[in-house]
Amino acid sequence: MEEYIVEMRHITKRFPGIVANDDVSISIKKGEIFALLGENGAGKSTLMSMLFGMYEPDEGEIYIRGQKVNITSPAHAAQLNIGMVHQHFKLVENYTITENIVLGQEPAARFLGFLPSVDIKGSDKKIEELSRRYGLEVDPRKKIEDINVSTRQRVEILKMLYREAEILIFDEPTAVLTPQEIEFLLDIIRELRNSGKTIILITHKLEEIKKVADRCAILCRGKLVGVLDVASTSTKTMANMMVGREVSFTVDKKPAEFGAEVLKIEGRTVKNRDGLPVVKNVSFSIRKGEIFAIAGVSGNGQTEVADAITGLVPASGGKIFLNGKDITDMSVRERITSGISYIPEDRQDVGLVLDFSLAENLALKEYFHEPFCRKGILQNEAFEEHGNRLIKEYDIRSGQGISTTVRSMSGGNQQKAIIAREIELSSELMIFVQPTRGLDIGAIENIHKQILEQRDAGRAILLISLELDEIIGLADTIGVMYNGEMLNIAPAETLTANQVGEYMMGVKSV
Ligand SMILES: Nc1ncnc2c1ncn2[C@@H]1O[C@H](COP(=O)(O)OP(=O)(O)OP(=O)(O)O)[C@@H](O)[C@H]1O
Ligand SMILES: [Mg+2]
Repeated sequence: MEEYIVEMRHITKRFPGIVANDDVSISIKKGEIFALLGENGAGKSTLMSMLFGMYEPDEGEIYIRGQKVNITSPAHAAQLNIGMVHQHFKLVENYTITENIVLGQEPAARFLGFLPSVDIKGSDKKIEELSRRYGLEVDPRKKIEDINVSTRQRVEILKMLYREAEILIFDEPTAVLTPQEIEFLLDIIRELRNSGKTIILITHKLEEIKKVADRCAILCRGKLVGVLDVASTSTKTMANMMVGREVSFTVDKKPAEFGAEVLKIEGRTVKNRDGLPVVKNVSFSIRKGEIFAIAGVSGNGQTEVADAITGLVPASGGKIFLNGKDITDMSVRERITSGISYIPEDRQDVGLVLDFSLAENLALKEYFHEPFCRKGILQNEAFEEHGNRLIKEYDIRSGQGISTTVRSMSGGNQQKAIIAREIELSSELMIFVQPTRGLDIGAIENIHKQILEQRDAGRAILLISLELDEIIGLADTIGVMYNGEMLNIAPAETLTANQVGEYMMGVKSV
């Protein structure tokens, strides 16, 4: 049995209303990259949380290096050399990188458990060594609040390595990264494997599994469907096994019928906190029945364009018109009620109230008017009816239906809830920022269909995505942002994926 470093035998975990893991058995060899694939809500994060000591299984046994263990806490998991990078990071914003990495570690206890007296210099050095060895560059003295998502992730990885983790669990690490950052991370993961670590990788992206994983376990609604040898299995087979039906990778798109102009942006400029322009004099317009997609490498001003339209960031120049009306100086609430739906990039921060029920979240932008509110009284049946209908149409999966607390829902199902709510507003302008990030392939297919239906129903759609495939598949018109400027606006059929890719790198004409 020594051959396996991790064995989970007959694991069952129940939550109210749902069996999240149902008699799951997996065995992982030392030094392999083991992928975990499954639809949103299939039970991937739950299974790994038990290996990391966040939950204990209701039934079943866990063996680490052949020894039976009851992993009772993350600290206990760390003692067993198990580390995890979570789907939603867990870092302290106003601490430095070093402080976050050593937080709760041994040296702190020796120095009276008082953080400022930790040997920060020595830790800085150890962290620098680790980052050099694995190509995980960070400046240990920077604060978390001042670093971007991919650097935050590196901090999480360094945190595991600092604690000498041998079994590394990554929960959807690539969902938050750009294509370039993904390649980089996959290199790091290979490097970690080469140095003898065992890796468990949760991802929805089949190409990533194909690229790095040795074996892949597939979960479906809590049950293990199979464990595959990756090299000898096609991505299509994996997809079909996971969803339980044939998945089509292409979108069916009808010819566009454009109507009147809905959104018009004239010479918009947005400055960041330091007063530097991040959106420079950008102008474009979107008509009824048109999907206008903004392509670009992350951080080139795309999300700021969206925020400037919804009013989340103040703009310092230019004008915005919605159906001919000047909305430049309106509040966020006024803009939304004048007809804007918005699926934001950061769903946990802006999109949801995590401690409210699913029904409440699904009506979050409408509760103050009919049918949800009559004569100042909230109408329970209206919430229930609306919630149940959306759960069905958008296939939102959770333990207790409309009464589920959103915090307990799987990441992908939280995202589906936001999309459902925003599409249901039937706004004339719909802004989708990275709508399918973190969704399984079946759910992506469904959301793409919904976006196209809205376009065919005459809505104006702004799609901002880092996924070139998504842009090419859906867009009627494509604009590329580079360094705050809109470099090129052209009908989608006149551009190849290659050309768009080159504009994204700042090439001015192809
Ligand atoms: N703490 C909890 N309380 C109640 N239900 C929970 C809790 N954690 C998870 N669940 C439920 O268990 C099921 C499995 O969730 P899990 O987060 O493991 O899914 P997942 O496979 O990681 O999905 P995703 O790809 O969307 O992240 C879901 O239906 C979820 O609602
Ligand atoms: Mg998950």
